[in-house]
Amino acid sequence: MAKIKEGLLPNLWDLLVSVGATCSALLVPLELIPTLLKPVSAGSLEWFITTLYIADVVVRLYRLDRKAPGRRPGDRLAAYWRGGMLIDVVAALPVHLLFGPSPWQLLRLLKLVRVAQLMHAWRQRRVQRSNVLRLAFFVYWLLLSVHWITCGWISLRDAAVGVDAGTRYLQALYWCVTTMTTVGYGDVTPVDNAQTLYSIWVMILGVGVYGYVIGNVATILGNIDPARATYLRQMERLSAFMHYRRLPMLLQGRIRDYYGYLWEKRLVYDESDILRDLPSSLRTEVTLYLKRDFIESVPLFQGAGDAFIRDVALEMKPVVFMPGDAIIRAGERGREMFFISRGAVEVRAPNGRTVYDTLTEGDFFGEIALVLGRPRSADVYAVDYCDLYRLDKAMFDRTLAHYPDIAAQIQQRAQERQRRDPT
Ligand code: CMP
Repeated sequence: MAKIKEGLLPNLWDLLVSVGATCSALLVPLELIPTLLKPVSAGSLEWFITTLYIADVVVRLYRLDRKAPGRRPGDRLAAYWRGGMLIDVVAALPVHLLFGPSPWQLLRLLKLVRVAQLMHAWRQRRVQRSNVLRLAFFVYWLLLSVHWITCGWISLRDAAVGVDAGTRYLQALYWCVTTMTTVGYGDVTPVDNAQTLYSIWVMILGVGVYGYVIGNVATILGNIDPARATYLRQMERLSAFMHYRRLPMLLQGRIRDYYGYLWEKRLVYDESDILRDLPSSLRTEVTLYLKRDFIESVPLFQGAGDAFIRDVALEMKPVVFMPGDAIIRAGERGREMFFISRGAVEVRAPNGRTVYDTLTEGDFFGEIALVLGRPRSADVYAVDYCDLYRLDKAMFDRTLAHYPDIAAQIQQRAQERQRRDPT
């Protein structure tokens, strides 16, 4: 709880300061057009913003103290200075009170640097929605720019008699939007050189913005569901390959079914490939999380300690078999054993007719060849789609050397099964 508070409060404060900076950015151009806004109407908001900015200077100093407690006040100031204290102090000057509505108010806009910094920090933290955030932040800057361009247009045009401030703003906004979106109805046209130059500039700006938005929206749509995109890419490559090599239709159908199953069970990503890049502590945590249900379903693991479960979970690799697949063939050399996470397998005698047993979730097989060092004793077939975990021989030997109790249980099971087999 304390941790959440620690992260939440600074965030809320930064958000509040950003709201203040946004209000400034909206208010300043309005105040600079003398005929548009009566200075009194913005007075209390100006006071609020000044107070907020002064408080922000104090908060930032306090935060530096929290980050490195015990620092001397001089060092703290020096650190803040390097971190942009000048911007905060200048933006906090009560310019409204000192100079009235004047270009000095533009100093307030320095605080937008903090908004940009906050946006940058958010994008760094929320990587998975980074593109959406980028577009949202872009829209923010775009709206501010539209407001400024609208105010610029108002300042260049003479006010028509009897038109109130709201209508003037709305008409200028209409001109700005039609020009920036390159719609340009032509019903509002420049009447002098300044307005013509201004219009040309806004048109050029509009074309750039348009391209940026279209490009970003396309990227965002492509990234909304990366897992689906990966799956579709895989399927397209596969279809092209199957068509190119003219695989039989039946085989093509089986391949499609296999990928369909991977998609349905959320196995499209190659886990080991992705986990490899993580530091070992995180890798263990993610692996245990992903395999928790399975580990809990294996009776062999019930009494085993945490250390064993961690070791074995890290070594087991997921594999999928389709209905009817031969997982093990009698007489082959044993290189691995399997644990069943989902599905069922049939253990059949080498003659292929007698079914020794049907094993389901939580069972394991393929241990006899590893424990007794003999060829495979039976055939094992997948009855339906099977999600298995494979433990190869080297890992099996290494892991069990450290856990003699578990090794004894597996050995005992191998001998029981072998005794049951008539061959
Ligand atoms: P392995 O001999 O390595 O390969 C075939 C596997 O089938 C074997 O290990 C056992 O895990 C499993 N198996 C063999 N006989 C039986 C049985 N009677 N009941 C259950 N499983 C068996």
